[in-house]
Parts: sequence; C-alpha cells; structure tokens
Amino acid sequence: MTQNAIPLFTKRRTQYALGAKLPLPEAQVDALIREAIRLTPSSFNSQSSRALILFGAPSQKLWKEITKETLRPMVPADAFAATDAKMDAFAAGAGTVLFYEDQDVIKDLQQKYPLYADNFPVFSEHSAGMAQFAVWTALAEAGIGASLQHYAPLIDAEVAKTWGVPASWKLRAQMPFGSNEAPLPEKTFIADDVRFKTVR
Ligand SMILES: Cc1cc2nc3c(=O)[nH]c(=O)nc-3n(C[C@H](O)[C@H](O)[C@H](O)COP(=O)(O)O)c2cc1C
Repeated sequence: MTQNAIPLFTKRRTQYALGAKLPLPEAQVDALIREAIRLTPSSFNSQSSRALILFGAPSQKLWKEITKETLRPMVPADAFAATDAKMDAFAAGAGTVLFYEDQDVIKDLQQKYPLYADNFPVFSEHSAGMAQFAVWTALAEAGIGASLQHYAPLIDAEVAKTWGVPASWKLRAQMPFGSNEAPLPEKTFIADDVRFKTVR
C-alpha cells in the first residue's frame, strides 16, 4: 500500500524564515491555492470560503504598511522592534493568502435551514480551517514555506478598502508564504494516550 498523505502532512510546517523566490511561476501558485480552496469541503457544499491572494508589492504593503501601521499605536514603543521585525519577515515572502468566509452565504443557509441556524457560523469556521490546511499543505508539497497569522479584525477595513474586498467577506486568517530560508525545528507531540481512544 502506498501512503502519500502522511509524508505530505509531515511536510507542512510553520515557516517564519521566508524569501521571495518561488519554485513555480506565480500563476501556478495562484492556481494551486485556488484549486486547494475549491476542493475543500463545506457544509451543504455551501462553498463559503473566499480568498484574496497577494503577490509581491501588494503582499509587502499588507505587512509593512497596513499591518505594521495598524499595530504601531497599539504596541508599547519599547516593544515595537519585535513587531516591526515580524512584519518585515512576513513581507520578505513571495506573497500572502488572506482567508475569508462570506457571511452572506451563512445568512442564506440560516434562512433556508432554520433548524441548523446556530450551526452554520460554526461550520463556516470549520471549513475555513480546512481551506487553510489544504492550502498550507499544497504549498508545502510544492516546496513553498508558509505560516498562519491572525490580525483580524484589526486590519480588515484597511485591507477591504485597499483591494476592494466585498463587505460580506469576513477575514479569518492570513498566510504569508515564500521560499524556505531556514531549517525547521523538530515537531514535538504530546502523548498519544492523552489524545486518542480506539475501540474495537
Ligand atoms: C488555528 C491555528 C491558529 C494559529 N495561529 C497562529 C498565529 O496566529 N501565529 C502564528 O505564528 N502561528 C499560528 N499557528 C501555527 C501554530 O503555532 C503551529 O501550527 C503549531 O505550533 C505547530 O507547528 P507546525 O505548524 O510547524 O506543525 C496557528 C495554527 C492553527 C492551527
């Protein structure tokens, strides 16, 4: 039996040391990200996930201008150097995927299926996480490093204004990606008996 999934999942890691080189042309990376999100399951096949995919200068603008300047007044001045360096590290990558969930899709589902109304926002979050994992893993398979970041809702309005994001799209996560510029630390795991029960 050939097993491809586990080696692939093993390859997906949090990479902070990003560079701007890509092993594939940008158009292919763009297509890969889109296909990974297209193939992601969603409740009632509602396909609530949306993405804004930034390459090059727009990605740098996201980190070095929008996110950095949003955080500057919020972080104590003597602690800002770390934030500054972090934003520059994300900007050093080749691009960023911004993951959204379309709230209009959720409202629609709630009207159509009132019995499940409370579940749809939760299902949407589950689907968002799956889309993030799918993209992260697909990028890793292509030799592209990435990490998962959360600066919503702080940056939502400025991002929406800058790139014309529809009002119904809610920002859930940002994934800066690029070349792997440093080895990754070994991944550690808690004990299996804490996590799993198998019954036969
Ligand atoms: C739901 C979720 C939220 C996360 N949020 C952040 C984050 O805001 N910033 C960050 O640097 N890493 C974030 N991470 C990455 C985790 O810290 C990382 O996946 C974990 O330490 C395991 O390391 P690995 O990705 O190399 O396997 C997040 C991961 C998940 C699944």
